[in-house]
Amino acid sequence: MVPAMAGKEVAVLWLLAVLGWGSGGKVLVWPADNSHWLNMEYILQELVVRGHEVTVLLPSCFLILNSTQPSPFQFEVVDVPITKKEMATLLEEAFYFWFYQERALSVWASLYRIAQLVYKLENVTKIICDEVLKNEALLERLKASTFDVLLADPLAPSGELFAEKLGIPFVYTIRFSVGNTRLCGGLPSPPSYVPASTRGLTDQMSFVERLQNFLFYFYMDLFFLKYHLATLMSTASEIWLIRTYWDFEFPRPFLPNFEFVGGLHCQPAKPLPKVFQLYSAIGCSGEHGIVVFSLGSMIYQLTDEKSNLIARALSQLPQKVLWRYKGKKPETLGSNTRIYDWIPQNDLLGHPSTKAFITHGGTNGIYEAIYHGIPMVGIPMFADQHDNIAHMRAKGAAVELDFSTLKTQDLVDALNTVINNSTYKENALRLSKIHHDQPVKPLDRAVFWIEFVMRHKGAKHLRPAAHHLTWYQYHCLDVLAFLFTCTAIGVFILAKCCLFCCRRCGRIAKRKKE
Ligand SMILES: *[C@@H]1O[C@H](CO)[C@@H](O)[C@H](O)[C@H]1NC(C)=O
Ligand SMILES: *[C@@H]1O[C@H](CO)[C@@H](O)[C@H](O)[C@H]1NC(C)=O
Ligand SMILES: *[C@@H]1O[C@H](CO)[C@@H](O)[C@H](O)[C@H]1NC(C)=O
Ligand SMILES: *[C@@H]1O[C@H](CO)[C@@H](O)[C@H](O)[C@H]1NC(C)=O
Repeated sequence: MVPAMAGKEVAVLWLLAVLGWGSGGKVLVWPADNSHWLNMEYILQELVVRGHEVTVLLPSCFLILNSTQPSPFQFEVVDVPITKKEMATLLEEAFYFWFYQERALSVWASLYRIAQLVYKLENVTKIICDEVLKNEALLERLKASTFDVLLADPLAPSGELFAEKLGIPFVYTIRFSVGNTRLCGGLPSPPSYVPASTRGLTDQMSFVERLQNFLFYFYMDLFFLKYHLATLMSTASEIWLIRTYWDFEFPRPFLPNFEFVGGLHCQPAKPLPKVFQLYSAIGCSGEHGIVVFSLGSMIYQLTDEKSNLIARALSQLPQKVLWRYKGKKPETLGSNTRIYDWIPQNDLLGHPSTKAFITHGGTNGIYEAIYHGIPMVGIPMFADQHDNIAHMRAKGAAVELDFSTLKTQDLVDALNTVINNSTYKENALRLSKIHHDQPVKPLDRAVFWIEFVMRHKGAKHLRPAAHHLTWYQYHCLDVLAFLFTCTAIGVFILAKCCLFCCRRCGRIAKRKKE
């Protein structure tokens, strides 16, 4: 994997870190693996630039990070009895399910399978967490370092536990909103118009979709309550940094301790490295421009059938295609398509001749496309990707394809649609304008709130009182039950009175008759 930072940047950041530039605070980090780390890294780099000392608590089984390579961060490696290989196998199993099985199964069968997979991931999480808590020496060392804040990704639970153990305030950075933001963060999410993540719904739902949404929320509540995640997560976090913004989200209620910082990693395009320059320069790509294609950092290999099908579709385009793919070279690869192990995605999307982006719908990639105003063809696979593409589709900036039933012609048609029909480009540019028109840039806001928590040792004044209520108090079920009982008693008494009067009247009338 090519590191996210170029060598020169690392050197500069490293120098800053060593010199202890400024008089910053100390930040402890509990990261999540893969693309989640890539996003967090941008925040951490900015913290280093502003003179803070960043220490990453790193389980030895993490795939994306290598603590021996030069880095502006310090690492506390936690040895865990899980190898990188075991971790990779587990993730592969999860991905296989998501690529090839999830959509083929019924909703409930697939939810059951997800629960099984989560159980396995939960087991690994528990082992890692125990390893940290068991390690007295490590905990003592961390305590002695007097950190000012802990920054964690709730995808890797237990950050909140360490924060409590070490007695330091705590900030989450997160994209997902399945149960953790709603149940744990107390974020109001009316199921009637706030779609649950991962089901690919929008804010315009039919009756059946609202029913589905309602049941999915309920299912996630049970899930979170089962693992006791809700109580812990809700007691701990001061600020939630959400990796989306109103260019992407549907309007919805939110709380003062939620900050929407989507696209914080996006930057103006830098000049392309030589190898990409030649291929994508106007002269070579011609009037048709280029198409950028990536299924993300986690997809190494497709089946031969799928990769050939995709390559055949790409070969029919008049555009040049740059495809990020690590698997076997497909036989049907056209002369207009080139495969790369890695591409400078942000810089390519910002290139003036880029016409479209074929994406799996990861939040990082979608935000780069929004930033540069590029229409998308989405082939969502798993996790929040269906949801992300559904947002872009609803906003008219993307066409969605189903990976499991994908045909060559579908991909050709989808690309021709987003490229020929100018409404897609216009909508993408509209989102881009909304994204750029903010008083303070997302990265600055993210860092501001982390520094705010460091300065004030928390942000308790922003926490809603909802955290002290039980679920039936929160929904006013006790009040409703009380009112219902009162009404029922009132109606009962009234009915009895009426009955009594009627009988009396009846008796009097009867007596008069006699
Ligand atoms: C980490 O980096 C070092 C030095 O670059 C290298 O020797 C080692 O193999 C790497 N380890 C892993 C697990 O990638
Ligand atoms: C949990 O994971 C460990 C290590 O991968 C494995 O040895 C153990 O059997 C797993 N336990 C359960 C209950 O799945
Ligand atoms: C869309 O544009 C492509 C060239 O980019 C062209 O081959 C195709 O025929 C066009 N389709 C329609 C429906 O206009
Ligand atoms: C372009 O796409 C929009 C949105 O899907 C559609 O309403 C419109 O009819 C399309 N225009 C053409 C010329 O196909």
